[in-house]
Amino acid sequence: MKIIVTGGAGFIGGNFVHHMVKKYPEDEILNLDLLTYAGNLETLKPIEDRPNYRFVRGDIADREFVFALFEKEKPDMVVNFAAESHVDRSITDPEVFVRTNVMGTTTLLDACRTYGISRYHQVSTDEVYGDLPLDRPDLFFTEETPLHTSSPYSSSKASADLFVLAYHRTYGLPVTVSRCSNNYGPYHFPEKLIPLMISRALADEPLPVYGDGANVRDWLHVSDHCEAIDLILHKGRVGEIYNIGGHNERTNLEVVKTILRALDKPESLIRFVKDRPGHDRRYAIDPTKIETELGWKPKYNFDTGIRQTIDWYLNNEDWWKHIISGEYTGYFEKMYGERLA
Ligand code: NAD
Ligand code: DAU
Repeated sequence: MKIIVTGGAGFIGGNFVHHMVKKYPEDEILNLDLLTYAGNLETLKPIEDRPNYRFVRGDIADREFVFALFEKEKPDMVVNFAAESHVDRSITDPEVFVRTNVMGTTTLLDACRTYGISRYHQVSTDEVYGDLPLDRPDLFFTEETPLHTSSPYSSSKASADLFVLAYHRTYGLPVTVSRCSNNYGPYHFPEKLIPLMISRALADEPLPVYGDGANVRDWLHVSDHCEAIDLILHKGRVGEIYNIGGHNERTNLEVVKTILRALDKPESLIRFVKDRPGHDRRYAIDPTKIETELGWKPKYNFDTGIRQTIDWYLNNEDWWKHIISGEYTGYFEKMYGERLA
């Protein structure tokens, strides 16, 4: 089986490439990534010499490039992680979100339609459902919850989902979609809440908490997300959407305080700052479908997962310090420059 994983130099895609390369030595994993600011080949260092792994740099929204790649590689499956993923960046610069998240997805879908595929999997997000009120803890997102997006990011992801489902209905393309809650774990880019707070707390820098810090996110360890996608690829029903989440709701303030306690740093580092415009209040996933249909169960609860994650950041300072210093952007040229010259 030849599997193209797009966005495999990012946080979740990188963890997924690690997972697949190790678990399926007989499969060929081709990591297609543009290496935007969020792509970091240092994440793939531990597996880059495996015989069943290759990296290709390219843009999923570049039609000519994508079609030439499919013509040459004839992949059996595509798992699409590639995206602009940061809500705050979508508020300041929405256009690239349309290009990558929407047009990148339709370009991949057209290539799959043209060259044939046994499965196209779209990695989506719970943000397509909008948010839930804080005073209704009984409410959860199910696969039937109507789409109701808040940010340019979530709107672009919802749009992509609709194209994926339309290509199934109209062209019979064998697709699946997963919608996951907030991930955390190794290789998480330090612009997102958890790695940002860990890296800043370690440097004794102020921790910016948006608004009142009462917004709730439903945290899932990235390896549980990867296991879920693996299961959907191999056992999921074509044309279906699967929500992924582990019932680990925490307010942002609780998350930040947990990190400070674990690092033995004072709460006086916390600064309440101006809120994110359109800030979603609460996300919470009902994972009943994937649990009952595919037998998925998360291995981590938040308390053990966050402890391990903090330890990972303490033991892998080079990885995130290279990001903060900007050093990681030279990695591609260092590793591939001569080979590609
Ligand atoms: P990320 O920002 O860490 O990584 C995105 C990767 O995509 C990067 O390596 C980047 O270089 C690559 N990329 C961007 N534009 C590209 C393009 N035009 N062509 C090829 N590659 C391109 O993102 P992430 O947090 O790992 O998220 C991965 C996917 O999972 C996204 O689709 C996101 O919407 C979804 N998701 C994320 C979370 C989360 O908590 N992070 C939760 C649910 C769903
Ligand atoms: O729910 C899934 C989504 O989770 C994914 O689709 C997105 O790609 C991913 O980025 C994430 O979106 P969030 O907006 O929830 O993640 P972020 O880490 O940016 O923020 C988490 C919460 O923390 C959110 O309520 C905003 C808040 N926050 C964030 C930052 C960066 C702060 O209070 N301060 C900060 O500095």
